Amino acid sequence: MLSFDLKAALDWEVHKADPVRWVEDCGLLRDKAGNACQLDENQRAILNPANKRVILNCHRQWGKSTISSLLCFWRALFYERSLCLLVAPSLRQSSENFRKISDALETISPKPELDEENKLTLKFSNGSRIISLPGSQKTVRGFTAPDLIIIDEDAQADDELFGALLPMLTNSPDGRLILASTPWGCRGHFYKIWQEGGPEWLKIRVIAEENPRVRPEVLEEARKSPNGALWFRQEYCGEFVSDEFSLFDEARLKRAVSNDFEEVDAEDY
Ligand SMILES: Nc1ncnc2c1ncn2[C@@H]1O[C@H](COP(=O)(O)OP(=O)(O)OP(=O)(O)O)[C@@H](O)[C@H]1O
Ligand SMILES: [Mg+2]
Repeated sequence: MLSFDLKAALDWEVHKADPVRWVEDCGLLRDKAGNACQLDENQRAILNPANKRVILNCHRQWGKSTISSLLCFWRALFYERSLCLLVAPSLRQSSENFRKISDALETISPKPELDEENKLTLKFSNGSRIISLPGSQKTVRGFTAPDLIIIDEDAQADDELFGALLPMLTNSPDGRLILASTPWGCRGHFYKIWQEGGPEWLKIRVIAEENPRVRPEVLEEARKSPNGALWFRQEYCGEFVSDEFSLFDEARLKRAVSNDFEEVDAEDY
């Protein structure tokens, strides 16, 4: 159970119905200097529970991980016994996402109580869980009816992993699936859904040039970067470049062809 003080401190019913109001009223979105900021229109759409399937093709540093983390936190806080699966490509990345949730936790007063907090799981006193899953795994099993699945850097997540996660939503009519990434070549489920996903998918593309938060000199530096034009088009312009192998570094390629995967089991969490 969450404390009475916490429920009283928040505008509980309003914030439960409207995550946008919750983020803005509580000042949970901060810029690098720590100032509270307004959500973009597209970020509001991601938070909107009515959008059950969302695919984000948004440039580097747009705010994909931040909004994903806040969305998990909102769901876990306001709905008892929620299960949120937050997939990230590496442990470093998932720790970073958990850190974003921890920062938001600290912003709310009194701080929501956690029953368990480790590198892979955040368990709230209302029975909700946010579980971090490694995107490098091929399969996961044993998680029943998650309310929210977010795959961060989804273009790099294994297709088998996606195939293992999607059926978990079968018995969650209100379950949400959010795929967030910059493109990574014309391949895999992220590319396919972006190209062929039907009207059930809300597709959001944001390129750096259109984002007023990206300073022109930063963009110019990236454009001239030795990584080259294809890299720039992929990371900042949301383009699925077909000359993909020129963008892959050796380590990524090795991981992509490796058969050395373990299965992730809910029992482990
Ligand atoms: N609406 C906003 N107003 C001001 N700052 C924002 C807004 N949305 C996100 N930010 C800030 O942008 C920065 C980058 O966010 P984040 O790391 O979530 O981006 P990302 O898209 O996941 O980046 P990457 O592609 O590199 O993983 C953070 O400091 C975040 O607070
Ligand atoms: Mg990110």
